[in-house]
Amino acid sequence: MRAAIILAAGQGTRMKSVLPKVMHRLAGRPMIRHLLAACEGVFDRVVVVVGPGMESLEKAVAPHATVVQAERLGTGHAARMAAPLLEGFSGDVAVLYGDNPLIAPDTLRRLVEARQEADLALLAMRPADPGKYGRVVQGASGQVERIVEWADATEEERAIPICNAGVVCAEAGRLFRWLAALRNENRQGEFYLTDVVALAHGEGLSVRAVEAPEAELRGINSRAELAAAEAEIQQRLRQAAMEGGATLVAPETVHLSWDTRLAPDVVVEPHVVFAPGVSVETGATLRAFSHLEDCVVRAGAVIGPYARLRPGTEVGEEAHVGNFVELKATTLGRGAKANHLSYIGDATVGARANIGAGTITCNYDGIHKHRTVIGEGAFIGSDTALVAPVRVGARALVAAGSVVTEEVPDDAFAIARGRQVNKPGRGFRGKGK
Ligand code: UD1
Ligand code: CA
Repeated sequence: MRAAIILAAGQGTRMKSVLPKVMHRLAGRPMIRHLLAACEGVFDRVVVVVGPGMESLEKAVAPHATVVQAERLGTGHAARMAAPLLEGFSGDVAVLYGDNPLIAPDTLRRLVEARQEADLALLAMRPADPGKYGRVVQGASGQVERIVEWADATEEERAIPICNAGVVCAEAGRLFRWLAALRNENRQGEFYLTDVVALAHGEGLSVRAVEAPEAELRGINSRAELAAAEAEIQQRLRQAAMEGGATLVAPETVHLSWDTRLAPDVVVEPHVVFAPGVSVETGATLRAFSHLEDCVVRAGAVIGPYARLRPGTEVGEEAHVGNFVELKATTLGRGAKANHLSYIGDATVGARANIGAGTITCNYDGIHKHRTVIGEGAFIGSDTALVAPVRVGARALVAAGSVVTEEVPDDAFAIARGRQVNKPGRGFRGKGK
């Protein structure tokens, strides 16, 4: 059995935000959820240490157990808070930082394996700019002796290139014993988790540092670091999408979400944004500058350029959605077309129906939303307003500029607009002059 304690009680002052730091999103989901996903399959139990009043965070980590650290007295103190929840637990316990969400499951596995060979294992890295990370201090024989926080380090110690990434792993009984013994006599007056390393070494126990790339282990403390982590995660997602058989014409311009699913032979043109919940089937083309969220695009469909697919939308096989078309909670049947300047919301559109330029479903009466149903093979003329709830039958034809308020039967022609009146001689030249 293995357990993980994730420290997430800090508000993240440097973020200057009302959100707890670990609730800020990366690729469309809170960073804490990325870390929980990495822990899955490596740890049997997870306890998250949260701060007071962080109900949104408690919700986001459910069903994992949480414990509140009422006072922010340091990472060692925070880890200690989890002790009552892990009472009687025998096995290894790892402590992770919630603001360290890019760790790969493989790296966590390497950590817990290293713990089999040493009494305490920790993750370390050699960042290009070691900045204010804690430094890993080794003895003459190369044995890890302690970690020194930047604030407490001498000039000599600050020159050490190996930094503490902030993950330790040890047998539960020992870890909690060390945590209970921590002192806060240091520059910051905090109980440092990192001091468990010196305690282990002092007992003559072995410590092993497992190194991993900075890209995985960087901490997020500021908006700039959040952006750097986003760039890193986008890079990984694009790589995975291309390895999965999707063409990204200009990958660096495409923004993906953690759960974006692109089937083989999907083509994504430049500047397409995927909010969470999007699935695109084989052979579909997403043309430039389109924005998709919580929707399904079936095989061979063509979306955009400049299309917006909002939640609850399903675009059928070979269907076309063109420029400046917005679809919301709408099912577009196989081969249907909405090619120009439309808003279609809360609608079901049959196969091969053609929605003319400028067609609008008037789905909202100010209080309720209503549905529009358009039958198979129907043809809706340009600039039609469909006042929902309303149904247009299969193969029906609606004249351009109609305001449709009543059902149009199957195969019928509907025209719903004022008749044209011509008044001879009353044109522009007839005015004034
Ligand atoms: C910490 C490490 C440092 C390491 C760096 C890696 C310590 C003392 N220092 O520094 O060696 O190089 O991470 O990123 O551990 N937290 C609580 N309660 C507290 C204090 C912190 O839950 O009382 C949480 C924070 O929410 C955060 C995590 O612990 O998620 C790390 O705390 P932070 O203050 O960011 O530590 P660093 O200064 O980055
Ligand atoms: Ca940090």
